[in-house]
Amino acid sequence: MARLPFPPDYPGEYPKIATPLPGPKAKELIARDARTVSQNLSKDVPLVVARAQGMVVEDVDGNRFLDFAAGISTVSTGHCHPEVVKAIQEQAGKLIHICYTDFFYPVYVDLCEELARIAPMSGGKRVFLTNSGAEAVETAMKLARVRTGRQKIVGFYGAFHGRTFGAMSLTASKPVQRRGYGPFLPEVEHTHYAYCYRCPVNRKPESCAVECLELLTESYFHHTIDPQEVAAVIVEPVQGEGGFIPPHPEFLPKLQALCRQHGILLIADEVQSGMGRTGKMFALEHYGIDPDMIILAKGIGSGMPISAVIARDSVMKWNDGGHGSTFGGNPVSCASALATLRLLQGGLVDNAGKVGRHLIEKLKGLQQKHRLIGDVRGIGLMVGIELVKDRATREPAPHERHQVIVSSFERGLLILPCGSSTIRLSPPLIASAADVDKAVDILDAAFAAVR
Ligand SMILES: Cc1ncc(COP(=O)(O)O)c(C=O)c1O
Repeated sequence: MARLPFPPDYPGEYPKIATPLPGPKAKELIARDARTVSQNLSKDVPLVVARAQGMVVEDVDGNRFLDFAAGISTVSTGHCHPEVVKAIQEQAGKLIHICYTDFFYPVYVDLCEELARIAPMSGGKRVFLTNSGAEAVETAMKLARVRTGRQKIVGFYGAFHGRTFGAMSLTASKPVQRRGYGPFLPEVEHTHYAYCYRCPVNRKPESCAVECLELLTESYFHHTIDPQEVAAVIVEPVQGEGGFIPPHPEFLPKLQALCRQHGILLIADEVQSGMGRTGKMFALEHYGIDPDMIILAKGIGSGMPISAVIARDSVMKWNDGGHGSTFGGNPVSCASALATLRLLQGGLVDNAGKVGRHLIEKLKGLQQKHRLIGDVRGIGLMVGIELVKDRATREPAPHERHQVIVSSFERGLLILPCGSSTIRLSPPLIASAADVDKAVDILDAAFAAVR
């Protein structure tokens, strides 16, 4: 019997690599992919997945990998958690689709009530369910404009909000995500995030007063943008794709004060940082802010497509029929999300905080050993290792990062990149200290093997 919220122990040794990588069956599938599948999705490693359970991903040749990627921070309760599978199966047997735009069904309301209950926002709240992070971001942008009657929306350099036009216009993570797709949504502006390891205004975190926000206050608001025309500022409480960057502790409170001063809505994009990953259900709880909207996706459904916008009651006021979604809040995805929330609140959020502290401590030890490691940072199980060619100049080391990712894969560890030179560690929240020890041993060997 499993000891909830944790799934049963994996019945076998892991990681375990038994063939050269890719193995014969993997090679065959990759060749088929190359003939027919759209080739926009370049991959760092040739992994072809057959099945996955808990912390373990098994490929089509029977190799077993320890998963510190979790489908980009999504499989929060581990792969195929029995409670999540049961909830999905039961719901699929009752109702798969009917469309909440036209009819009511209980599991949609159950999930909205639960999200409204747990969201760390003062006052009454309302929830709209969508399918992906990008769709939720689009929803929040539309709502901000229609509610305030203002057009401008401010985002941050390094941010990732998705790949649809509105969300892509806010995304400022890598030029390749925008190249060739313009023109973008008008009235979207970007300003500096408090990325202290590479401070945009050359301050030291110990003595700075979050001067990075001055691009917004001193430059934009004094010269080009009337703050009275800004509908919303959208911010990741911990920047994800940009490099797993927890901001300076004063950054979010100051940003909130600025928004309040000018009647600007503050939107927290918790798509990657939310759902317990940082050791609190919402990363913004570490910073004590009270936003006007929260956007959730990824970890909320343990891998089923579902996302949400939670807004203050006073903010979520649409023109009737002004917004909808055919699949948003699909019953099966709602059931998966409700089971996920029960498991997260039943102990996995606490586990993320506890095991995350162990992971950071071990990585700080690794940093003493490998000069390539410029910075180790993170909260809970949202941890980044930034690689540099030289610790004094902090020159990014993307080539070496790729080597560490490939070398870890060959040793049975799945990890992903983010930012220009960072490795992200975002395992399922069921990870144990023993899983962390295995992962860090593999990383140690992978760093040692960099040429
Ligand atoms: C913070 C953040 N917002 C939005 C998105 C977009 O989510 P999706 O890929 O589900 O559209 C992502 C995806 O990585 C993200 O990290």
